[in-house]
Amino acid sequence: MPGKINVGILFGGKSVEHEISVRSATNVAANIDKAKYNVELVGIDKKGGWYHCASVNQEITKGDPVSLRLSSKGHFFYNLSRDEEILLDVIFPVLHGTDGEDGSIQGMLTTSGIPCVGSGVQGSANSMDKYISKRLLKEAGVPVSKFLYANFRQRDSLNFQDIATAVGVPFIIKPACLGSSVGVSKISNESEFTKAVQNTFTYDNEVIFEEFIEGRELECGIIGNSQPIATNPGEVVVSGDYAFYTYEAKYLDPNAAQIIIPAKVPDQIKNSIKYWSVAAYQALNCADYARVDLFLKADGTILINEINTIPGFTDSSMFPMLWNDAGISYTALITKLIEMSLARTKEKQRLETNFAAREYQS
Ligand SMILES: Nc1ncnc2c1ncn2[C@@H]1O[C@H](COP(=O)(O)OP(=O)(O)O)[C@@H](O)[C@H]1O
Ligand SMILES: [Mg+2]
Repeated sequence: MPGKINVGILFGGKSVEHEISVRSATNVAANIDKAKYNVELVGIDKKGGWYHCASVNQEITKGDPVSLRLSSKGHFFYNLSRDEEILLDVIFPVLHGTDGEDGSIQGMLTTSGIPCVGSGVQGSANSMDKYISKRLLKEAGVPVSKFLYANFRQRDSLNFQDIATAVGVPFIIKPACLGSSVGVSKISNESEFTKAVQNTFTYDNEVIFEEFIEGRELECGIIGNSQPIATNPGEVVVSGDYAFYTYEAKYLDPNAAQIIIPAKVPDQIKNSIKYWSVAAYQALNCADYARVDLFLKADGTILINEINTIPGFTDSSMFPMLWNDAGISYTALITKLIEMSLARTKEKQRLETNFAAREYQS
């Protein structure tokens, strides 16, 4: 019988979503098929220190410090306390937001030659940046809301009226590269505009303004590479006490949002949602899996909002619940993601890395 595959689970991270990552990784570690996989846990604390941990929890620094070891054998982490290499066949980064979902870790893993579950550098970076995403989606014909981009250097010349004319009132301001609704505000007048612009620029040097979409918030799970498939959409119903799905509604108020799986939408609209979700995933060059978030207006219009390349895996996370509803258990889902990643790596190994110019150019 072939040996088990060594899977490294990366969790924590220097991100506002550190705690969510710990909760997600707890579930991934608990549900991974132990008959197929050996698990090594590598936690990143909030200051950016890396540790080899015995279990997934908040006390990451109790683990052994690790360093990176770039070798042609593919041994990537080195346990400094035990003076030993941590053998890994594939890494599953269960990190959300900055430094984990934006392509930076994916770049590091790619450079090290180690297979990594999920989108690579390009798909991750495309999806993390809401301005770049919107441009790529629009170019691919995927429906998105009206938007306008601004960077920090332009802040003094920004005015409410110009943006209102371009995208309509009310409108939304959001940081280009953040998550968890941090820095997102709904703006209806000049004074809200002044306050919100100042606030959002404290989180990012780049922001986007979008028309405010009055609609339902739906999410689809996607898996696959050459022929990605989408789940039926689920719905997040946010209580009327909130202007939109704010940070507070997401994480602080347990009664603020209700998740409905599957969302109640007519079949024809459901099929369009699945179609556009797959189109969005492909337009951004995602790999293995992602969660696509969208709005559905009362008149049936679908607008893709954003793509999360490492969606939550917590107990209340939509992505695993959507797949469970589609008949794929948590354990089977994790196996699928790892297998897809390994298959992709094999495909890449087919490529020649030496170019014998004379042979082809004579
Ligand atoms: N154009 C929009 N119209 C209406 N609500 C929006 C719009 N953009 C964002 N929102 C609200 O803000 C929330 C967070 O915005 P989102 O773009 O999803 O960023 P994040 O990455 O922080 O989740 C959304 O879930 C939604 O409730
Ligand atoms: Mg969102």
